[in-house]
Amino acid sequence: METATRETFGNIPPSSQAVFYVIAVLSMVIFGYGLWRRYRLWRLGQPINLLQSLRGGLGAMWTRFRPGARRVLVEGLGQQRVRGRGLAGSAHIVMFAGFMMLLLGTTLLEIDHLAAMISPELSFHRGAYYVIYEFTLDVFGLFFIAGCTYFLWRRIKRPASVGHRTTDWYVLLSFIALGITGYLVEGLRILWQQPEGIAAWCSPVGLGVAKLFSNLTVADARTAHFAVWWIHALLVFGFIASIPFTRLLHFITGPMNLFLAAPSLGQLRPVTMEEVEATERIGVSDIRHFTQQQLLSLDACMECGRCEEACPAYLMGKPLSPKAVVQDLRGLLEKTAAAGGKAPAMHEETIKAETLWSCTTCNACVEVCPVRIDQVALIVDMRRHLVSEGGLSGTAATALRRMQSAANPWGLPVNERAAWTASLNQNPHSQAPPA
Ligand code: HEM
Ligand code: SF4
Ligand code: SF4
Repeated sequence: METATRETFGNIPPSSQAVFYVIAVLSMVIFGYGLWRRYRLWRLGQPINLLQSLRGGLGAMWTRFRPGARRVLVEGLGQQRVRGRGLAGSAHIVMFAGFMMLLLGTTLLEIDHLAAMISPELSFHRGAYYVIYEFTLDVFGLFFIAGCTYFLWRRIKRPASVGHRTTDWYVLLSFIALGITGYLVEGLRILWQQPEGIAAWCSPVGLGVAKLFSNLTVADARTAHFAVWWIHALLVFGFIASIPFTRLLHFITGPMNLFLAAPSLGQLRPVTMEEVEATERIGVSDIRHFTQQQLLSLDACMECGRCEEACPAYLMGKPLSPKAVVQDLRGLLEKTAAAGGKAPAMHEETIKAETLWSCTTCNACVEVCPVRIDQVALIVDMRRHLVSEGGLSGTAATALRRMQSAANPWGLPVNERAAWTASLNQNPHSQAPPA
């Protein structure tokens, strides 16, 4: 029996292969350019001195990088923080698993192709490896299509907490088209190559597609295969080029933010006198006052709406949505880079003081964010500026004034401070103080 295998660029003439590689390079150039533009935006922030982390020996570097690397592995690759949102969480995990497997498969195929160009002996895409490879990719391709189809259906329903951009349709429809054309290419290849036994059965979905088109002649199957192969290839290149310009950016910035974010467990960063003397300001009044990591974190937001759904202030109808704060700052960053000094002001024009003072700093938004964006730090940094300008208002200002004059936030006279305990024994739920 013949060894199970297939030619990597089977039925694709050398001229088409050359054009394929030219477009591949072009799509990567567009991808690189888009990413570089985002990088330039992050660079507007206060330096985070990443290079300093490279000091010391390998052991010291590993100690410093280990928590971040662990977060990337467990929370990025392992999707730990994506779980727990019903179908959306599961659909993303299924789609992610499908995507990663297809990415790994395509990379292995290219390595095999390059190895075979050096010497046909080096090719490993055959035999048992080939059978396992084809079967695995066939199954994971279904996962990918299923996850994307769920997200398309959800987008049609337009849940209020999820952000919507026109490019979302392109992303999801092109992903589904990518999956379907992948199976079509496989089915049409089976029709003209006519593999037998396990070499055909190891691609069950492709074999099913081949059966659907079994009335095609071998010549017609070759022509159709060539045409669909090109559509599939162009969809892949469109996807690569679009990553930095669409919501897909999160699968680069998400892991980057997971790596760099310093989980604070609800602790606020103190402001030191040295810092105030060096910067001559307290808090943030310009988008460039945030750190480079904070600006990067704005790009990691995929507007999933989890923070908004968890925010008690938002749920109480206060004028605050942590998702909107992140998105408004992201918009301000883009406008600042484009307009230089003429960009809209951060305070009031972009983010209202009442929005900032509506936050209870409960940290629920940070807890649920899948990519660990620290919305509380963003809000508190901006609030610090308001306080430094004497702009504290509302209940927070009243409570602080009363603390200053009466040593309690209610402004009660000293001899009445314990008056509220009088009613404690009347409450059936309260425990009487020990005698
Ligand atoms: C690196 C780690 C990643 C994390 C932490 C992550 C996280 C998320 C989260 C939380 C959502 C919102 C889902 C929801 O509504 O609950 C989302 C949306 C999405 N993710 Fe990822 N993602 C990652 C990587 C990827 C990858 C590799 C892909 C490629 C297939 C991908 C494709 C998408 C798409 C297409 C959406 C939008 C769905 C929609 O249109 O609503 N993500 N991601
Ligand atoms: S910390 Fe502020 S923004 Fe975040 S959930 Fe609590 S109230 Fe909402
Ligand atoms: S800040 Fe985090 S939780 Fe909120 S919408 Fe963006 S990614 Fe989702």
